[in-house]
Amino acid sequence: MARLRLSQIRSRYEAGQPIPMVTAYDAPLAQAAEEADIPLLLVGDSLGMVVLGYESTLQVTMEDMIRHTQATVRATETPFIVADMPFLSYQVSVSEAIANAGRLVQIGGAQAVKLEGGTAVCDRVSAIVQTGIPVMGHLGLTPQSVHQLGGYGMQARTEVEAEKLLEAAQQLEAAGAFAIVLESVPEEVGERVTKTLHIPTIGIGAGRKTSGQVLVTHDMLGFNPRPAKFVRRFADLRTPLVEALRAYNEAVTAGTFPAEAEVRHASFPNFNDAGTSQ
Ligand code: KIV
Repeated sequence: MARLRLSQIRSRYEAGQPIPMVTAYDAPLAQAAEEADIPLLLVGDSLGMVVLGYESTLQVTMEDMIRHTQATVRATETPFIVADMPFLSYQVSVSEAIANAGRLVQIGGAQAVKLEGGTAVCDRVSAIVQTGIPVMGHLGLTPQSVHQLGGYGMQARTEVEAEKLLEAAQQLEAAGAFAIVLESVPEEVGERVTKTLHIPTIGIGAGRKTSGQVLVTHDMLGFNPRPAKFVRRFADLRTPLVEALRAYNEAVTAGTFPAEAEVRHASFPNFNDAGTSQ
């Protein structure tokens, strides 16, 4: 089976078919997403918070992103895989941005990269695209700017901010982005940007009118005790996980694991209790 191509994502968009995307960071999660026929996987820098235990995405490095992109790519055959460019991997200069996008594709195996920001990153987007690497933009709540934004609240709440975001989206499109993530913006803003652009918008907390949706998998599977209000928990996997681990703990403590049927016995005779053959 072949990996989904950019042209197939484009066809889906042109046919008006909503585009599902989820985050994946490791082999088991990526395989589950592939089995569920999710066409787009994002190796997001949310990795820092949901897998590596950091407080924000700012600590995530290129090495982290490459390692987790490799795992996601190795474990799957069909989804189109987008790798996030971590903080400071594209902000410093255009040439560093090209080199780091290249590493995510060449060493990580990603099909595309994503970076945050509007007008300020358009030269990076266009340079990376000219290198032959598809770029996904990211506007609205851009977690790498958490300290400047003053938290993880909703963005583009006023007409002026919404207009600014729309302009930035148009600039990203002109710079060659193949799609744009819109995070935490009012539904009206998501709709306006989606109607204005000629590339897909992928919403996360951006309402119902975007071309596609993305969720952080750990949030939708119930691992985050305080997910954002817009997150739907499609499952609560944390509870059965804790229950299974508790049952194991109790079984080992009580001496009931392993049971007789779970023990492998030596097939040769004269094997003594000390484990040495006589
Ligand atoms: O890092 C991430 O998971 C993301 C999504 C929130 C879109 O950028």
